[in-house]
Amino acid sequence: MTDTTSNKMWGGRFAAGPDAIMEAINASIGFDKRMAAQDIKGSRAHAAMLAATGILTDSDAEAIREGLLTILSEIEEGRFEFSAALEDIHMNVEARLKELIGEPAGRLHTGRSRNDQVATDFKLWVRDQLDAADEGLQALIRALLSQAEAGADWVMPGFTHLQTAQPVTWGHHMMAYVEMFGRDLSRFRDARKRMNECPLGAAALAGTSFPIDREMTAEALGFDRPAANSLDAVSDRDFALEFMSAASICAMHLSRFAEELVIWSSAQFRFVALSDRFSTGSSIMPQKKNPDAAELIRAKVGRIFGANTALMMVMKGLPLAYSKDMQEDKEQVFDAADNLMLALAAMTGMVGDMTAERENLAAAAGSGFSTATDLADWLVRVPNLPFRDAHHVTGTLVAMAEKQGCDLPDLTLKQMQSVHGEITKDVFDVLGVDNSVNSRMSYGGTAPAQVRAQVTRWKEILK
Ligand code: ARG
Repeated sequence: MTDTTSNKMWGGRFAAGPDAIMEAINASIGFDKRMAAQDIKGSRAHAAMLAATGILTDSDAEAIREGLLTILSEIEEGRFEFSAALEDIHMNVEARLKELIGEPAGRLHTGRSRNDQVATDFKLWVRDQLDAADEGLQALIRALLSQAEAGADWVMPGFTHLQTAQPVTWGHHMMAYVEMFGRDLSRFRDARKRMNECPLGAAALAGTSFPIDREMTAEALGFDRPAANSLDAVSDRDFALEFMSAASICAMHLSRFAEELVIWSSAQFRFVALSDRFSTGSSIMPQKKNPDAAELIRAKVGRIFGANTALMMVMKGLPLAYSKDMQEDKEQVFDAADNLMLALAAMTGMVGDMTAERENLAAAAGSGFSTATDLADWLVRVPNLPFRDAHHVTGTLVAMAEKQGCDLPDLTLKQMQSVHGEITKDVFDVLGVDNSVNSRMSYGGTAPAQVRAQVTRWKEILK
């Protein structure tokens, strides 16, 4: 037997243990213990395959299986003692297995390396996050659909440059976010399809001389197929980057919506009332109700995109195959995933609880000359003016109303006719906001009927 006392893991080659600083920079157990369940799952699949191919005896495989299950419950129940001296989750589990079952534990690593092991564990972990994001997004979309359905015909101002542009419906505005989050959903699903190839069996980098069955482990772990190149399999972190890219875009969407909620819930807008459950008070100003959840969601994109950038920089310029640099992948992904899920859940809660202030929305919808485009369109449609002339006439009328301190529908027919003689009283029909939104029946337009059709389509998609 080799003396393993001087160095816990590499006693064969190493005479001395690592310096404390070396251990501190090298150990990943502080964070990669989050992949314990995935590590044990991967090891169980590997051991079962080694037995099926005759590389391990059935009795060794059975001892390994039972030992791993014991370790899993120890970890789940918080009874497992993680050790930094054992570097990472893989060595911690293996060392405990040795304590539990003795010699067969040393056979588990046949035809495998920590390089394909960590790639497999991490992929399984990221895959779970893709599924969690999928669920989180579906819940958020459902909350938005409820808002859209309830307020399919509630009018509100639509903005460009955050200046009143044209009236739109509350439902239409909610459905804009449904489209965004729907694309996020499809990005996570795309990434899942692409990443679902199993690295296990790539071994250290070159494959193995043992007659392993990679199809079997791939299938046992829910992968579509084994990864086709062993060098790539152990050094690919695209799956983590794709997850974080999709997460970044999703977080960006969340931040845009969060920003609107911050604006809308302000005393100056009063478009929405956020529930007490998703607001906070001020320690000094008793009147305040702050949209902290929305603000924090608005901020999360910074750290999620930052995590994505950090891992991009880690991976940039790495030669094939595995390098220890890649151990820096996990904390970024863990942080990005935790914060994305939290932001999705908080947004879903806020959207579910918030109340649109229907009257304030309607009052704002009619102000700011929001139906000026409807007036210009009427001048084109009825007296057949070229659009540019109609634009000019309307602009003159807006200036007139502005000077009088009133809105367009408050001008008299006489005043209008003084600008253009062919204007008739019918024009007043298009100056109302309800008529305005009802007229926008083009596909994807803001008319309530269009909004309802989109709600129906999305409900079908989410079935
Ligand atoms: N803890 C390592 C990581 O996360 C596991 C792989 C170590 N492989 C090696 N050859 N040192 O990347």
